[in-house]
Amino acid sequence: MKLSRAKFNGVGFVKERAVAVEAALAGGEVLKRYLGGRLHISEKGELDLVTEADTASEETILSLLEKRLPGTSVLAEESGETRRDANQRFIVDPLDGTTNFAHGYPCFAVSIAYEKEGLIRAAVVYDPLREELFVAEEGAGAFVNGKKLQVSQTRHLDKALLVTGFPYDLRQDVKASLRLFNRFMGEARAIRRDGSAALDLCYVAAGRYDGFWEEKLSPWDTAAGSLLVTEAGGQVSDFSGGPFNCRGAALLSTNGLVHPAMLRILEE
Ligand code: IPD
Ligand code: CA
Ligand code: CA
Repeated sequence: MKLSRAKFNGVGFVKERAVAVEAALAGGEVLKRYLGGRLHISEKGELDLVTEADTASEETILSLLEKRLPGTSVLAEESGETRRDANQRFIVDPLDGTTNFAHGYPCFAVSIAYEKEGLIRAAVVYDPLREELFVAEEGAGAFVNGKKLQVSQTRHLDKALLVTGFPYDLRQDVKASLRLFNRFMGEARAIRRDGSAALDLCYVAAGRYDGFWEEKLSPWDTAAGSLLVTEAGGQVSDFSGGPFNCRGAALLSTNGLVHPAMLRILEE
């Protein structure tokens, strides 16, 4: 099936969603071209990498957005924010999972969200290696390659498969970064650390994970994935159970059923 034609009956943001799909597929093609080749890698911080593939994917995505929707505003990880229209923007992570990518570990994605009047209205996450295209639109559900997504039905934490991630500054206080990991380790069935927050959220939406928590995330990591989760029937909040905003750094995302049990641990 041609992914760009995967079935989706949107409601109000059809054009923006379609453009985000086209841009995510194009960014994913760029990533595939670079994968496995000799890569120029630089360090944004001690553990925070940026590769040629991040910048090339972002350039492709941004020029496509500009071509299809001239004058559109963008908040993109590598090139920052253009403030042409304060009311709406695309939020772009051209390569979520850069460390994985740099090591040839096959878990990374392109993430593009469309935000209008402070709310995420459409979301696309594309995993180019598995050829999984996750798409959601506010009020219209969440889909992978045209198939409707539904979060898991796991009720109890001891039967739950959880996922998390660690911030790039974790060496400043390794013990603190591991505190929650250790707590959940004693409660959940198992925990994974995949290295792509956007895919972690998609996997919660798809019922592959029951819950995901992480601190110190950025808007481009979570904007698209958070809509995918809520449109698949799941829940996304901050660590106190308050409404999630992609500009807030802490995120708890679950199937809804294990949310209270995870919140109790986060609030300890
Ligand atoms: C990172 C990934 C990772 C998460 C980090 C993010 P990047 O994004 O999503 O899973 O743990 O906090 O910064 O740098 O690969 O785009
Ligand atoms: Ca990211
Ligand atoms: Ca990135």
